[in-house]
Amino acid sequence: DGKALFTTNCAGCHQATGQGVPGAFPPLAGHVGNLLAAQGGRAYVEHVVLYGLNGKISVNGKTYNGVMPAFGQLKDADLAAILNYVSTSWGNKLPSGQKPFTSAELAKYRQDKKTPAQVNALRPKTVK
Ligand code: HEM
Repeated sequence: DGKALFTTNCAGCHQATGQGVPGAFPPLAGHVGNLLAAQGGRAYVEHVVLYGLNGKISVNGKTYNGVMPAFGQLKDADLAAILNYVSTSWGNKLPSGQKPFTSAELAKYRQDKKTPAQVNALRPKTVK
C-alpha cells in the first residue's frame, strides 16, 4: 500500500513523519497540499516522482538545492499509491475538487521523458 511504499522509497530522506530534514530534504507534511492547489502543481508532483528533481527550490521560505532520484522504476499504480498517501497524511489533504491519483495519470506523464532540471522548471512559481 501507499504507506509501505512511502516507507521503503521516500522516508529515508523525507522521514516517516513527512517533516524532511532542515537544509537537506524538504518537508512534505503541511506542504504537498500547497503544491497540489497551485496551477500545474498536480502534474509537477507526478513528474517529480517519475523523473526526480534537482536545482533550487524554496519551501516555506527555506532554500533547498539538492538532488532527488527518479522513481520511474516503480509501477504507475505504486507511484499513484505513494502520492495518495503523501497527499492525505500528516494533515495533508487533496485540494477540493481533486480526485485521488490514478495509474492512468502517471502512465500519461511517463511519456514525457523529462530530466530532473526540466521537472524543476515545471514547479509552480507561486509556491515559495
Ligand atoms: C523534493 C516527494 C523520495 C530527496 C521532493 C518533492 C516532492 C518529493 C513532492 C518536491 C517538493 C517541492 O517542490 O516543494 C518524494 C516522494 C518520494 C521521494 C513521494 C518517494 C517516492 C526522495 C528520496 C530522496 C529525496 C529517497 C533522497 C535520496 C529530495 C530532495 C528534494 C525533494 C533533495 C529537493 C530537490 C531540490 O532541491 O531540487 N520530494 N520524494 N526524495 N526530494 Fe523527494
